Amino acid sequence: MRRPTILVTGAQGQIGFELARLLRPHGRVVAADRAALDLADPDAIVAAIRGARPALIVNGAAFTAVDLAETETTLARAINGRAPGILAEEAKRIGALLIHYSTDYVFDGTRRSPYPEDAATAPQNAYGASKLEGERAIAAAGAHVLVFRTSWVYGLRGRNFLLTIRRLAAERDEIRIIADQVGVPNWCRTLAEATARIVGAGLPAAAERAGLYHLSSTGQASWYDFARAIIGDAPRPSIVPIATAEYPTPARRPAYGVLATARFETTFGFALPDWREDLARCLSSPGEPA
Ligand SMILES: NC(=O)c1ccc[n+]([C@@H]2O[C@H](COP(=O)([O-])OP(=O)(O)OC[C@H]3O[C@@H](n4cnc5c(N)ncnc54)[C@H](OP(=O)(O)O)[C@@H]3O)[C@@H](O)[C@H]2O)c1
Repeated sequence: MRRPTILVTGAQGQIGFELARLLRPHGRVVAADRAALDLADPDAIVAAIRGARPALIVNGAAFTAVDLAETETTLARAINGRAPGILAEEAKRIGALLIHYSTDYVFDGTRRSPYPEDAATAPQNAYGASKLEGERAIAAAGAHVLVFRTSWVYGLRGRNFLLTIRRLAAERDEIRIIADQVGVPNWCRTLAEATARIVGAGLPAAAERAGLYHLSSTGQASWYDFARAIIGDAPRPSIVPIATAEYPTPARRPAYGVLATARFETTFGFALPDWREDLARCLSSPGEPA
């Protein structure tokens, strides 16, 4: 039997890079980075999908620069808001499954218990609004789509909190980290592994479970907790907890973004590890695969 073609967009991103590698056992992976497929260009999306005719499209691409999205809103909306809808429409046209990722930033962060999938959305910044627009565009297309909302993605390559903390730790004796925003750190490899596990169980089974899910490690942390866990037992730098108000940023961040993962666990039959365990696994991993 011919191996199905799997199109991975954003293949140089944190999740996309891991996906392109981990999905290889399940099909012929076409790994498209931004140069190969620019999601800001609707014609390019249509041409890429009609050309490759994938059985599965996994959208690892996004405009993830949360502060920049406040000023580059048009571009953020094109990539996060409009492109996912085009991917879904094209997926529907050829009977492909689409897997897409969204964010806890679709919520306002005022709850103090984990957000279920059907909680009311109210993004606090342009990035969150653009991602919500993408979710809605996907829903409107009526294709078979798995949308996985996740949070605080990190890894050993790319741009993320873990690498920022490591860089600052090498430069400074003291770092000041926000302690009043709570969420869940997620290792990009674990998110990609969960995706690959679902794909590995077969595309028809995955398509039957189409819908919106919260995919996240368990436990919770503030950015301060996360930074402390990254630094571990190292004697320096000292990490000083601060309030959000002491570190103003262009984009407002929700104060709480823990996602309830019961729907995912019941549907797919597995849960992601506790974030601390997973961070330890990441930090002891032998680096990045080629
Ligand atoms: N990062 C987080 O903390 C976080 C939290 C919750 C949800 N998510 C979601 O998880 C998914 C994956 O995020 P990630 O952390 O893996 O993101 P990432 O590391 O920032 O990767 C995103 C990739 O998309 C690419 N990209 C940007 N604009 C593009 C365009 N116009 N066309 C094609 N590709 C483009 C980027 O390329 P360049 O490097 O060239 O820009 C980058 O390689 C996204 O849907 C994101 O919204 C992320």
